[in-house]
Amino acid sequence: MARSNQQSDAPLAPDVSLPLNPPTIGAGATPGPVGLIAFEKHVDPLAFLGDLVERYGDVVRYQTRMGPCILFVHPEHVQTILHSENYRRASLVKMMLGEGLLASDGPRWRSQRRLMQRDFLPVGVAPFISVMARETAGEASAWQAAARAGEAVDVTMAMTRLTLRIVVAALFSDDLSDEHAAALCAAVTQTVNDLGKISWTVFGVPVLFTPDRNASFASAKGAIDGACHDMIARRKALAPADRPRDLLTMLIEAQTDSGPLDDRQLRDEIVTMLVGGHETTALALAWAWKAMAEHPEIEATLYKELDGVLGDRTPGLADLPKLVWTRAIVQEAMRLYPPVWYMARVANKDDVIHGHAVPRGTCVLISAWLTHRHKDFWPDAERFDPARFAEPAVQPPHRYAYFPFGGGRHQCLGMHFALMEATVILAELARQFRVRPVNGQHIKPDPGITLRQSPGMLARVESRAAQPVPTPSAPGAF
Ligand code: HEM
Repeated sequence: MARSNQQSDAPLAPDVSLPLNPPTIGAGATPGPVGLIAFEKHVDPLAFLGDLVERYGDVVRYQTRMGPCILFVHPEHVQTILHSENYRRASLVKMMLGEGLLASDGPRWRSQRRLMQRDFLPVGVAPFISVMARETAGEASAWQAAARAGEAVDVTMAMTRLTLRIVVAALFSDDLSDEHAAALCAAVTQTVNDLGKISWTVFGVPVLFTPDRNASFASAKGAIDGACHDMIARRKALAPADRPRDLLTMLIEAQTDSGPLDDRQLRDEIVTMLVGGHETTALALAWAWKAMAEHPEIEATLYKELDGVLGDRTPGLADLPKLVWTRAIVQEAMRLYPPVWYMARVANKDDVIHGHAVPRGTCVLISAWLTHRHKDFWPDAERFDPARFAEPAVQPPHRYAYFPFGGGRHQCLGMHFALMEATVILAELARQFRVRPVNGQHIKPDPGITLRQSPGMLARVESRAAQPVPTPSAPGAF
């Protein structure tokens, strides 16, 4: 059985109607609480789901105002769901992403996925390493100035802007000014926040937000749409021979079965890459920085690797296979703090998953937050230990004991891009700086659609050249 939430200390809302009854035998033999799960306004979903699993086990059925939900935690069940055509994504994210790859399914999704897949294979993303290194070097200059001035850096925000700049530069050959990047990040954050509020209906919270009637959602979405339409228009204005050979040009010039993509379709794919392709990586990094500051011995091993492999060089392609510990830190950060911490699907027709009846229309939930902490698969599951990923011969105990990038037909398109990017950013910045959170002990997981930090990590960045490296036995950062 998976452990209950240890990290999120927000209490269940006082109006919690989760009864303390023993498992019920209701629909099929699936255990779960009796009656309706209904919160007034707020719930801590990490605590709520963790608590259900603690009480009822790896499969829990509960009833919300919107209908029945079944939470599946065992990796075998996760695999079945992700690989089955019966489970489709709910339509929520369509409000933001339209028919983009991350929101669609069926023939439209298949054709788009086929179109883009090749560019995101390891060989397709390899050339982006120079953009990643260049943009990170820009961030390093800003950190150098902050270090000299003794000013704190909002590391979470810095990671978010940096990864946005990288996605825009790598896929759309566009340069975002600091101001533009900040405005776009704020707009994306706002829309993801708002959609998060609706998605909580699966945890028993009523719909308290209607995007089409909300002015701030409309204005944030308008800002994102404007930025995308602007990029499309500028690119289309160029003669084909003058267009950079990037994803944007490829999409504009693509011929699908139904002809070229229209502006609406182009917008949907570009927004998908912007929204799906930066905050996730930024969060993986933000959690990695926090974990490292809390574990000086892990940080010391990182410095040893970076000094040995890179010295004073920026990472290049040939270095990546040698940055084993750097990458393992990112992977372990995503185990304990998966940026996409849960996924919801809807059953198309009646089904049975490993003996559990799943009637048509049931909402099926899987949660990397819970499965990644499953005691049967992860010894000492709450401990941050990159060594779990540092030995290539040692594989996770089950393919779906670890699924930060999902799996099956919708497995993250940007997985190789993101892993390379996070490794390069961490290597390039940790090669030069030690990060010391000033509010570290107060940072908690803030679950919405993604697993954010609350508050964002504020840190002093110290130049490593100017300071001695701490010994493994040095006290913690806080
Ligand atoms: C650490 C960073 C990232 C994480 C943790 C992550 C996680 C995920 C997950 C869990 C899914 C599956 C969603 C589902 O099944 O409903 C997904 C899908 C997707 N991701 Fe990522 N992602 C990351 C980075 C990126 C990047 C950098 C890009 C693009 C540049 C990207 C683009 C996409 C797209 C287009 C899909 C939809 C794939 C499909 O349905 O065919 N992601 N991602």
